[in-house]
Amino acid sequence: MQVDLRSSWWIRNVEITTRLVLAPMAGVSVQAFRRQGRRYGAGLVCSEMVSCAGLQHGNEKTLGYLRIAPDERPLAVQIFGSEPGVMAEAARMVEDAGADLVDVNFGCPVKKVTKTGAGATLLEDPARACEVVAAVAEAVDVPVTVKMRRGIENGSRACLELGPRLVESGAASLTLHPRSARQMYTGQADHSLTAELVSLVDVPVIASGDVTSRARAQAILATTGASAVMVGRAAQGNPWALREIVDGAAGGEPPREEVVAELVLFMRETVRELGERRASGFLKKFYGWYLGRGRFPRPFKQELVQLETLDEVEARLFAAAPGAAEVLERLESELPSGEDDVVLDLPISIYGGG
Ligand SMILES: Cc1cc2nc3c(=O)[nH]c(=O)nc-3n(C[C@H](O)[C@H](O)[C@H](O)COP(=O)(O)O)c2cc1C
Repeated sequence: MQVDLRSSWWIRNVEITTRLVLAPMAGVSVQAFRRQGRRYGAGLVCSEMVSCAGLQHGNEKTLGYLRIAPDERPLAVQIFGSEPGVMAEAARMVEDAGADLVDVNFGCPVKKVTKTGAGATLLEDPARACEVVAAVAEAVDVPVTVKMRRGIENGSRACLELGPRLVESGAASLTLHPRSARQMYTGQADHSLTAELVSLVDVPVIASGDVTSRARAQAILATTGASAVMVGRAAQGNPWALREIVDGAAGGEPPREEVVAELVLFMRETVRELGERRASGFLKKFYGWYLGRGRFPRPFKQELVQLETLDEVEARLFAAAPGAAEVLERLESELPSGEDDVVLDLPISIYGGG
């Protein structure tokens, strides 16, 4: 049976109006990315993972992750850590900042995180994982959700044992990225595990991993019984993929003017968020993501990366797609106004948190 991707579902009292969730991605999921995701059809967006220790210490950079704009909501802020008390305190701060959901990361495969006992390590430490979820759920009124990998080792089925216990501990929804931590991003997500997890729990399950098209999204929803799909890498520099997945918008590449207009809007918003200096470095990977996929000749990206200032990058982009200025004007006029222009010195965190 085909699922209507534009139908509502709920995580407790939080209504999510489409079946598409934008993935949390460290070093990617800035506010500009999340707001763009909402415009293109994501019903729920998520911050990248935020260190609970950083929040506890009042680290200014970490606190920057708690900046939430009204047009992002509903929004989940994801936290990671392994100390139940510290995670509970972090969850309270996330709730106070206005997040609709607190998401707990049990999937990050990166050493810097797993060696502290957090992220994917908790998949194999069920007692502590449950303590963390129970403490967090006790601390806040908003629903608490968990994002997991299948387990640490290849072939592991740890998520199936752990998932129901996390629900008993208070998780209101589970997201499964059915790769092992060892796999990082190699191989394929095995969504037969997602189907098994759905059959074991009575909360909504979100399927994450290798959702790149409407056909794939429909197939995963139909075969797993998941409530929604999560899209990560396919949306990098490519919000059009989200529209295609949700609305079945005619495939094919967007016109160059639109690509440049969205990129420039993204650049401007990111500068407001991170400040010019940090934004310059942060944005470099996005040039390739936006301008690749055969949209512009390869050397063009190289040229942009070497320019000194973002003003120069903008000028070069407009020169390559003269109609883009008009498209950008329209986009900017359609955005909700009155956003604060506070610049936060946000960190560019480690790559690959789940
Ligand atoms: C660059 C990058 C950063 C990521 N950071 C996070 C993160 O902070 N928290 C998390 O739970 N998952 C993180 N992930 C995992 C994604 O949320 C998602 O589960 C995974 O990429 C599979 O989905 P995809 O095939 O649609 O990309 C990250 C993935 C990538 C590629």
